[in-house]
Amino acid sequence: MKLDKYNRWINKNCSSIRNKTILLNGVTGGIGKAVTYYLASLKNKLIFLLRNIKEAEIIKKDLIEKYNIEIEIIFFDLLDKNSLDEALNNISDINDIDVFINISDIYHQKEEIIDGIEKTYIVNYLNPAYFIKKLLILNSRIKTIIVSSITYSIKKIKENNFESFENYSKYLNSIKNKTIKYGLSKHLLMQYLISLGNKFHYKVIFVHPGVSKTNLFSKKNKAYGKAFYLFVPKMMDLIFMKPEKACLSILKAINEDDLKERLWIGPRGFLKFWGYPSIYKLRKSLFDEDSLNLIYKETEEYFKRIKE
Ligand SMILES: NC(=O)c1ccc[n+]([C@@H]2O[C@H](COP(=O)([O-])OP(=O)(O)OC[C@H]3O[C@@H](n4cnc5c(N)ncnc54)[C@H](OP(=O)(O)O)[C@@H]3O)[C@@H](O)[C@H]2O)c1
Repeated sequence: MKLDKYNRWINKNCSSIRNKTILLNGVTGGIGKAVTYYLASLKNKLIFLLRNIKEAEIIKKDLIEKYNIEIEIIFFDLLDKNSLDEALNNISDINDIDVFINISDIYHQKEEIIDGIEKTYIVNYLNPAYFIKKLLILNSRIKTIIVSSITYSIKKIKENNFESFENYSKYLNSIKNKTIKYGLSKHLLMQYLISLGNKFHYKVIFVHPGVSKTNLFSKKNKAYGKAFYLFVPKMMDLIFMKPEKACLSILKAINEDDLKERLWIGPRGFLKFWGYPSIYKLRKSLFDEDSLNLIYKETEEYFKRIKE
């Protein structure tokens, strides 16, 4: 792997990422682990939000041995609203957080309806939206970085009146194609946060890491048949970027102090799948006023439903 090359790129392009306090989730995943090692090597204080405490302790021990930094672990499960409230409670005592990075996600997993909503929307959109809203109420100065995906543009919601949250969730649940469902969950989180950011002047930055073979395509998700797992992940590993390169977009986002509205950061190469990070325009569809209002309203309905 070209780690020396990536480190040179970081030294040249991300000079401000040092001695910050960074809160992040998804550290046990491919992209999250790669970015965590860079952040640790740059001597940042890290706060992990993770559900897999055993794995988190292993990563923490290794990072402390290598880089002698401060690391805290807070239990956090996007399928467990109480854990989000507890995490927020713990975070409320920490007043020097500079950056939050939302990395956690699920992609192609077996369909599962939980309290009337398919799990992909809970993990990728509704519960991160809830957590981020509450986090920014605690500290509005936190720079919030959302790891999204170019698939956000493959589906948008056209209906402008669902009449109830139940109808909205029924509509979401009716989407069966896993990639469209994943892309839509990304799209909806982005739209909610654009509205929230506009209303309260929060700093939210979106990034796309490109394509990389990570646990998103792990056999344990059981989304596909055996043949898929025999060939596809291996092929991806050969063709696409390693997470150590894909995560550079996140570092660029932390470093970027005045990214203009409607721009985001992702790889500059072919189809935006490969390459070093660059800055791009987001699609106009994300900023449609009616759609922003609708998604804001429905997301806030969800918060009422789970007793904000
Ligand atoms: N890889 C790509 O090609 C690609 C392309 C575009 C965008 N992205 C984006 O990059 C980000 C990272 O993805 P990745 O490829 O690194 O995926 P990954 O290896 O599967 O990592 C996913 C992370 O999310 C965490 N997570 C899943 N469910 C959770 C839950 N209920 N509560 C808390 N954490 C949960 C996992 O924790 P556990 O270890 O506990 O399961 C893991 O740390 C995602 O936002 C993804 O959409 C990736």
